[in-house]
Amino acid sequence: MRLHVADHPLITHKLTVLRDARTSSPVFRQLTEELVTLLAYEATRNVRVSPVEIETPVTRTTGVKIGEPRPIVVPILRAGLGMLEAVTELFPEVAVGYIGLERDEASLEPQSYYRKLPPVAGRHVLVLDPMLATGGSGSAATSAVKEGGPASIRFVCVVAAPEGIRKMEADHPDVPIFTAAIDRQLNERGYIVPGLGDFGDRLFGTE
Ligand code: PRP
Ligand code: URA
Repeated sequence: MRLHVADHPLITHKLTVLRDARTSSPVFRQLTEELVTLLAYEATRNVRVSPVEIETPVTRTTGVKIGEPRPIVVPILRAGLGMLEAVTELFPEVAVGYIGLERDEASLEPQSYYRKLPPVAGRHVLVLDPMLATGGSGSAATSAVKEGGPASIRFVCVVAAPEGIRKMEADHPDVPIFTAAIDRQLNERGYIVPGLGDFGDRLFGTE
């Protein structure tokens, strides 16, 4: 499995503010979008393009345009929604699917409550979820997308725990992970340490 840690200073700076418990929801939302824009550059570096002939004011030349079929992006509800707009701003033509998962607080197992995916056969899919903790949610969402026979899947998160990386590696060794940071460990409640707390609650102001 390939693991990409996007440790650009701009990303690390924004992540530091996200981690800070004093950061308000509006700032948290804005910084998430900015950080995910930078992460998405890394995760889509090899997006399919096709050549296109254009006329500059000076001469004819060949450039590229994003090729077909357009990628699919799948945020895991709810917190993955905070990452969606950054990707649709970069790729306005993407198709969007949704997977709703909620971790059971006691067992830490993901409970599925929603799934709406476009046809994924033969297409490139980005799965978005900011927190890869035990890896249960990321792995379950990846399995759900795989049922449709995609050409490839890439998993984009903001913070990953070693436990979640190991789970993804065991269940989906073919799926590269793009993250802004690898944190130390999980605590007894399954939260990432040092982490940034409950991403969904901080994003939506529901703490
Ligand atoms: C969070 C997060 C991931 C999951 C990660 O979602 O957004 O989906 O926990 O944990 P895991 O790797 O141990 O599965 P949560 O279940 O809190 O739901 P929410 O996004 O609706 O807040
Ligand atoms: N989900 C979160 O939102 N934060 C964590 O630290 C772990 C799971």
